[in-house]
Amino acid sequence: MILVTGGAGYIGSHTCIELARVGHEFVVFDNFSNSTPAVLARMEQIIGRPVIWHAGDVRDPAALDKVFAGHPVSAVLHFAGLKAVTESISQPIDYFDHNVHGSIALMGAMARAGCKTLVFSSSATVYGPEQPMPVAEDAPCAVSNPYGRTKLVVEDLLNELGRSDPQWRIATLRYFNPTGAHPSALIGESPLGTPSNLMPLVCQVAAGIRPSLQIFGDDYPSPDGTGVRDFVHVMDLAEGHVAALDFLTKNQARIVVNLGTGHGTSVLEVIQTFERVSGQRVPYEIVPRRDADIGISFADVRLARELLGWVAKRDVDEMCRDAWRWQAANGS
Ligand code: NAD
Ligand code: WQD
Repeated sequence: MILVTGGAGYIGSHTCIELARVGHEFVVFDNFSNSTPAVLARMEQIIGRPVIWHAGDVRDPAALDKVFAGHPVSAVLHFAGLKAVTESISQPIDYFDHNVHGSIALMGAMARAGCKTLVFSSSATVYGPEQPMPVAEDAPCAVSNPYGRTKLVVEDLLNELGRSDPQWRIATLRYFNPTGAHPSALIGESPLGTPSNLMPLVCQVAAGIRPSLQIFGDDYPSPDGTGVRDFVHVMDLAEGHVAALDFLTKNQARIVVNLGTGHGTSVLEVIQTFERVSGQRVPYEIVPRRDADIGISFADVRLARELLGWVAKRDVDEMCRDAWRWQAANGS
């Protein structure tokens, strides 16, 4: 049985679908601060069987102990946490509380239950801004916001935990830019309030919810001058988690691995691809660079291929198509 914290959220819910597809049993633990139980009903529609879940907060040791007591948990996928960079600047205490304190409480409960296999959601945001691309896992880390700092602190803690007790099996996965949705359009990304990530904004402009997209800068050293990112389909990420779990089952190891495609796509290319596959127009205007934005980011994905045998299979066409299908079916 796999415990999935934050399993009703964007990446967690898609990963649960993949867990079910390959025959893993799982239990979702989520406080629904950024999701709703309705997601679980959608997941049941996709997998064709009930989803086991508990409402609870990862900062609550008693709630976690209850879950471990009630299920034979062999490994944990830890997605639960807060993830908005800008919000983290105004609410650093909340971010450290959910992301760091929450992770510490989880590790404590795991240790008490004798479950020492963990996959942790980290982020490419931990890499310093001046790294040559593609960026590999041994590049220096440097963070400029509280959200990124919480990821690095937990990474450091996991390192120390593994050093103190080699029985721990830990995969720290650094996601690049997750996007897209399940092809059924039953689950996808549902940002609360105004989205800040590119693809949800593109979708909302295409749906007429917003008049136009602002492109933050066209003077980066990329072929068309707009920013470049390593967009990775959320179903590929889901498969990456299952691959990490398989790796940890076979190896008593601690690994840190990038999950991306290894290819950069510019903001303008995303818009053009989206317009082509959706048949919708995405009006845009060029505005100055966003504060503290990095220009170009894409992953060195050799380690993921070597260690996990995982390679992202879906291209930007598929990411845009699935994101739009989700928006068209569920957006208001
Ligand atoms: P999400 O907000 O959609 O999902 C997180 C889930 O965790 C939500 O369902 C939320 O209700 C739950 N949650 C939050 N705090 C909790 C707590 N204290 N206790 C229990 N549940 C709690 O986010 P996501 O995009 O699916 O991200 C999942 C993980 O991946 C996060 O840790 C995030 O930092 C990391 N990550 C996300 C991205 C991205 O761009 N989406 C990129 C890199 C890393
Ligand atoms: C992508 C590109 C923007 C919006 C953030 C977090 C990071 C990680 C992923 C969690 C950039 C451009 C965007 C818009 C634009 N999350 N853009 N107009 O910046 O790579 O990373 O999400 O770990 O921590 O910082 O993603 O989607 O915000 O931006 O031109 O309205 O789109 O400048 O080039 P980013 P993003």
